[in-house]
Amino acid sequence: MSAALSQVFSYAPEHASIGIDDRELSEIVECFNQAQQQMNSEEERVHHLFDAPTGTEVVRLNEKASVYQKNYGWMTPSEARQRIEGWREHCAAQGLTGANADKVVLSLFDKSGAWSRPWEEAGYQVYRFDIQDNPETGDVNKFSVDFFGDWFGDFDGLDIYAILAACPCTDFAVSGARHFAAKDSDGRTVASVKLVHQTLRVIEYFRPVIWSIENPVGRIERLGGLPPWRLSFDPFHLGDSYTKKTLIWGRFNADLPVAPVDPVEGSKMHRMYGGSSLATKNARSVTPEGFAYAYFMANNAIDHPLMAIAGKYDRLCKRLIGEAVKYGLTSSDVDDLVEDAYYIDLDDTAAEQHLRDDLSARGAVLDSYAQTDGQFALWL
Ligand SMILES: C[S@@+](CC[C@H](N)C(=O)[O-])C[C@H]1O[C@@H](n2cnc3c(N)ncnc32)[C@H](O)[C@@H]1O
Repeated sequence: MSAALSQVFSYAPEHASIGIDDRELSEIVECFNQAQQQMNSEEERVHHLFDAPTGTEVVRLNEKASVYQKNYGWMTPSEARQRIEGWREHCAAQGLTGANADKVVLSLFDKSGAWSRPWEEAGYQVYRFDIQDNPETGDVNKFSVDFFGDWFGDFDGLDIYAILAACPCTDFAVSGARHFAAKDSDGRTVASVKLVHQTLRVIEYFRPVIWSIENPVGRIERLGGLPPWRLSFDPFHLGDSYTKKTLIWGRFNADLPVAPVDPVEGSKMHRMYGGSSLATKNARSVTPEGFAYAYFMANNAIDHPLMAIAGKYDRLCKRLIGEAVKYGLTSSDVDDLVEDAYYIDLDDTAAEQHLRDDLSARGAVLDSYAQTDGQFALWL
């Protein structure tokens, strides 16, 4: 690699430590992927965090935006602005209730704060991690059990509702494919792969209701050991008039509302923010605002109580939890009923029986479908 090129790449914060060759890269990838596969195939699953989305759960927002455009035409920029403003007001209204104050959102690789801002406005406790903001408490490579205890007091034991991660994409995105060979052999790729693995570890450690990793189309899924992606979108589906095909992996509701505008700016990112200085890289990678608010609308706990409870207790029958929600049980009612059996005894049968007993006392007549099937499907 030329000295100039190496200088350019050294700007990327994820490349602070390098020095692993491509053989070690494939060993690390292979080893991690095997461990993941083994975990997912175990009969006694402790969680369903990394289950692949079913066909109906996968959303291509382009299809939704096309249907809208066919029926109503593109939104004008001001109509789209208005719609996003409505979403923003919805967040603020939730914030005023204080109902989300006991829930934590961890937002990794979040320099701008754009993806997590709606959650903050809605009153969630948001913690952002980006190495550019703080090389000590912002470095995802430094995450460990002690790290969260020492620096964050384990978030006072509150539930981690969501983990969002806009992982560094420079070593994965197809747009940089011509540099893959050099990056693989000098260790830059493995540094990025390790960040993805760290992200998956923290997801498994905290077991949030929802989690998402964002990246452009590329090789993160294969190298990082991710389940298949759940959502694809372009910013113009959500009010920003440019194209940048983006994929989201994880467990979340991918059925986002849309605000489709004509993508008149095309693929503006490299035209407007070409170059490789840190400032232009940062400008290029800011999470689009419309996406951030639409994602909140589709995934927040108040609007989606079934998702919030079923995601927390993902080994229990989702239909039974649906009945509980229908009969007015809140998240904390369900906690009181099942927490001990679920977490301490790992006795899902008992946890479900507590729910059934409570529902029967409320006059619910449960069909046989509300029996456990051991599956966490039908993500809403
Ligand atoms: C693709 S950008 C995502 C930016 C994000 N969408 C936003 O709106 O700010 C990746 C980010 O990861 C950060 N990063 C790189 N290595 C990191 C590390 N080890 N720990 C934490 N953040 C890191 C970079 O500073 C950069 O802001």
